[in-house]
Amino acid sequence: MVAIQAQKKIWLDGGLVDWEAATTHVLSHGLHYAYAVFEGIRCHRTPEGTAVFRLREHLERFLASATIYRMKVGYDLEALVRAVVELVHANGDPEAYIRPIAFSGYGEMGLDPTHSKVRVAIGLWPWGAYLGDVGNHHGIRATVSSWTRPDSRALPLQAKGSANYANSALAKMEASAAGYDEAILLNSAGMVAEGPGENIFRVKHGIISTPPASSGILRGITRDTVLELARESGIELNRVDFTREELFTADELFFTGTAAGVTPIREVDGRPVGNGEHPVTKRIQDLYEDAIRGRLPQHRGWLTFTGG
Ligand SMILES: Cc1ncc(COP(=O)(O)O)c(C=O)c1O
Repeated sequence: MVAIQAQKKIWLDGGLVDWEAATTHVLSHGLHYAYAVFEGIRCHRTPEGTAVFRLREHLERFLASATIYRMKVGYDLEALVRAVVELVHANGDPEAYIRPIAFSGYGEMGLDPTHSKVRVAIGLWPWGAYLGDVGNHHGIRATVSSWTRPDSRALPLQAKGSANYANSALAKMEASAAGYDEAILLNSAGMVAEGPGENIFRVKHGIISTPPASSGILRGITRDTVLELARESGIELNRVDFTREELFTADELFFTGTAAGVTPIREVDGRPVGNGEHPVTKRIQDLYEDAIRGRLPQHRGWLTFTGG
């Protein structure tokens, strides 16, 4: 967990406001029924200045999440890109985690939010490696959760909807209470799905695999980045379902996510992963760092410079 450090500005409903002024009423509809969609994005210091990583893809997913929930955001992709750039510039920190959210505001109660006013906010704050710097280097300890990922017939999993994160929070709390760093969730078919806020990868005999989108995961932008970087470096990869036992027999396992970056998993439910080395994960981790920090000229298009 991270204590949010107050910054200067928040973008709220069309413009920048002071941090303290970005408030909402306790009877806001979205707070009660989780009628909200959000994103997690990062900006980084690069040799050419502050750059937001894969901003358009994140905002496209944000708008797609809203579409799935029949939510009218009221700002198109270009307006949201401008809003994020303006916000990063105004706060001045080149290394930040950026959180856009759209939610049904104050005015009406009851389950049907069709006539509720949608509010849109974008905030940012400094947030180091989500699973810790030590975990990032040496790997984290994970446990298979007793909570399963919801079925996409119950909740749309391709939408980054706040409602899904009650399931994530239950899994995370269970893992923490049992002394683990993170949970791994199975899907309703019993196959490995993802972490509460990360996608998962398995390495066996030098081949990397990750569950397909159809396994009930959020189609992570870091997952996509890693698949692209692995493909370019000639690492064999596939998108296949795997079982809980295959976690125990992997040579390497790692999580990917905007918050977590690329984080090795060194133990699952008391079983060490492989021989404790993670050369493939390290290679992917280094490539990912190069990508977000502007050291891969062929992927300059993944960066949106904010003029800072
Ligand atoms: C459930 C879940 N899976 C996977 C991810 C990784 O997605 P991304 O790499 O786009 O941050 C996230 C984070 O947004 C998530 O919440």
